[in-house]
Amino acid sequence: MTEPDVEAPAEAPVEVPAPALPPEAMMPPLPPIELPSVLAIANQKGGVGKTTTAVNLGAALAELGFRVLVVDLDPQGNATTGLGISHRNVEGSVYDVVMNDVPVEDCVEPTSVRNLFVIPATIDLAGAEIELVPAMSRELKLRRALGAVSGDYDFVLIDCPPSLGLLTVNGLAAADAVLVPIQCEYYALEGLGQLLRNVKLVRTNLNPTLEMRGIVLTMFDARTKLAEQVEREVRLHFGSRVYRTVVPRTVRISEAPSFGQPIIVFDSSSRGAIAYRELAKEVSRGASRRAG
Ligand SMILES: Nc1ncnc2c1ncn2[C@@H]1O[C@H](COP(=O)(O)OP(=O)(O)OP(=O)(O)O)[C@@H](O)[C@H]1O
Ligand SMILES: [Mg+2]
Repeated sequence: MTEPDVEAPAEAPVEVPAPALPPEAMMPPLPPIELPSVLAIANQKGGVGKTTTAVNLGAALAELGFRVLVVDLDPQGNATTGLGISHRNVEGSVYDVVMNDVPVEDCVEPTSVRNLFVIPATIDLAGAEIELVPAMSRELKLRRALGAVSGDYDFVLIDCPPSLGLLTVNGLAAADAVLVPIQCEYYALEGLGQLLRNVKLVRTNLNPTLEMRGIVLTMFDARTKLAEQVEREVRLHFGSRVYRTVVPRTVRISEAPSFGQPIIVFDSSSRGAIAYRELAKEVSRGASRRAG
């Protein structure tokens, strides 16, 4: 199916502001991922494709035969609705897991994709950011909860909110590695230094084995020089930690959530579906598949 073209945005200046990145930004390549693997999808910048990547990478990994759990850690609940779960029908949510010690398995919902499950979020999660402040071991709530189901899934993808608050810290503390979506637009790299410093803080204080596994370039518009410039800049800084797959900006990807479907279901042969399938292959390269 051919896709409608997006309107070409005005050409922005091609000078991409590069942040002062810490030396660990130049990182050596990592060995293949070990399963089970918990990946936090994080970037405090809003609207860069975190949720789109959690939903669509999750679906594509499930299609490859991996058992995948998406944890919606954002009070906006976009991963929940994007996977076809209505907030009204949610019985147990990630709020209950983090705040009320409800077992994860009581909150997991199946999705329309085989092997793909979600722990939904509802708006009450917004309160958790404040309610967690006086709690004991407040940074480790999610890590402890997910520990109980770690053998049940090959991949757990945590969709973090656009902030560096306690919810994101819980996401990073629970993860084996961080995936950072970067939108191929102006100011794309702004705030990245801060995110990397936070990853380092979490590694030092909470989760010594947390890895910065990869950067996913999203919303790439091949018709703009700017997108190419951002890609070049990001690859220069992060080298082999940047996935080769670049997710294009397409209308179909942005339409899929309102149908509650991942792109591989909504429009299986679209450019977006192909890109997320490629990304899933890259992310899982070298990992052994679970039988059945
Ligand atoms: N490759 C793409 N092509 C077109 N639209 C996209 C693409 N990726 C994401 N979008 C759209 O851009 C918007 C922001 O994406 P998304 O919600 O995934 O970002 P986010 O980082 O999770 O945002 P937030 O910080 O608010 O949680 C959404 O409307 C989404 O449908
Ligand atoms: Mg989001």
